[in-house]
Amino acid sequence: MKEDGIICITIDDHELPRLIMIMEEVYGENNHLGTICIRNNPSGRSTMKGISINHEYAIFFSKSPISKVGRLPRNEKQINRYPEKDKKGYYEEVNFRKGGGIRKESPKMFYPLFISNNSWRIPKMNWNNDKKEWILNEKVKRDENVIYPVDDLGREKRWKWALERVKNESDELFVRKVKGENHIFHKNRMSHNTVLPNTWWDKKEYSATDHGTRLLKEMFGELKTFDYPKAVEAVKDCLRVLSGNKDAVFLDFFAGSGTTGHAVLELNKEDNGNRSFILGTNNENNIAEDACFPRIKKAIQGYKNQKNINIKGLGGSLEYFKTKFIPYGHSDQNKILLAKKASDILCLKEEIYDEYISKIDYKIYKKENKYIFIVYDQLSIEKIKKLITQYNAKIKIYVFSLGGDLFEEEFEEFNNVEIFPMPEPILATYKRLFL
Ligand SMILES: C[S@@+](CC[C@H](N)C(=O)[O-])C[C@H]1O[C@@H](n2cnc3c(N)ncnc32)[C@H](O)[C@@H]1O
Repeated sequence: MKEDGIICITIDDHELPRLIMIMEEVYGENNHLGTICIRNNPSGRSTMKGISINHEYAIFFSKSPISKVGRLPRNEKQINRYPEKDKKGYYEEVNFRKGGGIRKESPKMFYPLFISNNSWRIPKMNWNNDKKEWILNEKVKRDENVIYPVDDLGREKRWKWALERVKNESDELFVRKVKGENHIFHKNRMSHNTVLPNTWWDKKEYSATDHGTRLLKEMFGELKTFDYPKAVEAVKDCLRVLSGNKDAVFLDFFAGSGTTGHAVLELNKEDNGNRSFILGTNNENNIAEDACFPRIKKAIQGYKNQKNINIKGLGGSLEYFKTKFIPYGHSDQNKILLAKKASDILCLKEEIYDEYISKIDYKIYKKENKYIFIVYDQLSIEKIKKLITQYNAKIKIYVFSLGGDLFEEEFEEFNNVEIFPMPEPILATYKRLFL
C-alpha cells in the first residue's frame, strides 16, 4: 500500500472485535480512521441467538497520518436542509444571532443594527476600546428599532459575523417576523456539495439483497455461484471515502463477483474520472469466470438485462490474468518460465498490455508510441541493441538477471531508452527459488 493509502474491510458483528485488534497491530491504533455502520440488510438476517441483524461494519485504516479521507456527496436529506434557492445557490434561513457564544467572549460581535418592518441597516457607530463596546452615533428613525443579539431570556449573545463581513455581504441578511417580532435572519448557504462521511449509513440503496443480488440476477439470470454480492452504491461510497482523487487505484483482493470494479466504473462515468481497479479472486464455484469477469465486461460494454432492457455500457477497459503454478526445480527452463509468467505483472505496472513481438528470449509490448522490452536472457542484449536502432520511440527495458544488474552501460548510447530494475518482489521470488 502507498504511504497515503487507506484500506477498508467490511465485516459483521461477530468478527469485528478481533479484526480491529489485528488491524491495530498491523497499521497502528492511531491510523484507525473510523468504523462505519452500514444498514445493508433492512429486512434483517435472523440468528439462532434471537436477534435479527441489519448491518455490517466498514472499518477504515490508513497506512500513515498523511492519508486523506474523501468526502461523500450530500444525500437528499442533507440537501433538503437548504430548501431556499437564489442566484447563488441553495440556502436555509437562520436567525443571525448565534446560538452558542456570548457577548463577554467576543464583545466586538455585540453591535447594534437598526431594524424596521421590512429592512435593516448598519447605523453609524464607534468602537470604544476602554469600555469594550460599540457607541451609537445616530438615533433610530421613526419606524426603526435598535436590535442587539439578545435572546428570548434576555441573555446577551453575539451575532454570527463580525461587522466588516456584514458590510461586505449585506445582501445575505434580511428581516423576518417571528411570533410578531422582527428579527435579523441570514442565508446560511450550502458551502460544499459534499460532506464529511459519518459513521451511520442507511440509504436504501445499500441493501445487498435489493441492489446486489438483484443486480446480478438482472445481469445474468439466476446465478447459482454466488449468494452475497454487495450493493454497488455501498461500495461506491466506501471508495469515495478511500480516496477523493479521480485517478485513484483500487485493489480488491477478495473481489468475489467484482462489485468493486463495477463501482469504480460507475464513479468514473459520473464524474469523468480516471480511476482504475485491480480485482483478485479465487475461482470458488467458478465465481471468477462466471461472475466477476463477465460482469465487469458487461458493465463496460453494456448489455440487455433479463427484463429485455438495454443497459448502456459505462466504458473502460479490462485485462484478465490467471495465476498459475510453475514447476519447482532449479532448471534454466523453470527460470525462464517464471520470468515469462512475471511479464504480465510488468504490463500491469506499465499499463501497456498489447503484445507486439514474442520470442523465446524477449518480448515487446506496445501502446501507441511507447514500448516495453522484457529481456529474459542477458546473453541476448547485443541482439536487443540492434533491434532498438529500428525504433524511433520511447522504450523501457527490463532485463531479468539473477544478480540484479541494471545493464545501464550497455544501453548508454540510446537516448530514447530507459532501463528499469526488475521490481523487487519479482526479483525476490526469483532469487528465493533459484539461488
Ligand atoms: C465476501 S466475498 C466478496 C464479495 C464481493 N465484495 C462482492 O460484492 O461480490 C469474498 C470472495 O473472496 C473470494 N476468496 C476467498 N478466499 C480467497 C483467497 N484466498 N484469495 C482470493 N479470493 C478469495 C471468494 O471467492 C469470495 O467470493
